Amino acid sequence: MSRHLKQSSRRRFLVGATGVMGAAGVVGVATPFVCSLAPNEKAKQVRAPIKVDVSKIEVGAMVTVAWNGLPIWILKRDKQSLLSLKKHEALLADPDSIDSIQPKNTKNTFRSVRSDIAVYIGLCTHLGCTPKYRPELSPIDLGENWHGGFFCPCHGSKFDLAGRVYKNVPAPTNLEIPPYRFIDNDLLEIGYREESEGV
Ligand code: FES
Repeated sequence: MSRHLKQSSRRRFLVGATGVMGAAGVVGVATPFVCSLAPNEKAKQVRAPIKVDVSKIEVGAMVTVAWNGLPIWILKRDKQSLLSLKKHEALLADPDSIDSIQPKNTKNTFRSVRSDIAVYIGLCTHLGCTPKYRPELSPIDLGENWHGGFFCPCHGSKFDLAGRVYKNVPAPTNLEIPPYRFIDNDLLEIGYREESEGV
């Protein structure tokens, strides 16, 4: 079996595993009793940062957690995926994330604080549908130049593994990135903001 096919098969397997570890990986989602709180306290609780242990996420897999009422995707990318990001930049609408929304510390080629871990708000920037994680290489429906990414079934928008939107699709900008930081090598804190953070 060629290296390409092996990698493609592995990625297909990991699509099946997507989401399985989501709940187990969350260290401290503070949601109980939210219903009994006053509205501004409730809003604070929902916006409160959450911690996620990323050490259990397999390379190539993606998990979904909830923060601020939003689905947050956490994807562990392999080296091959990171290398592929340069290959299709001419096909992207905003390859340098000039017009897209992300924290300052993720405005780089990989759109992430750490290259292997990507964090996105899992909503299409067109009308808010949930795109599907499509990590396969060159599947028939997405074409030869597809190196993995996200496909929105509502109106066909496509995003690469850095959440960057392709040209000529309805979504106007790249997938949004929530504020986050690493507390240590394994622990991600989503919702953390520096005083000066603009997002
Ligand atoms: S909502 Fe995703 S393409 Fe329209």
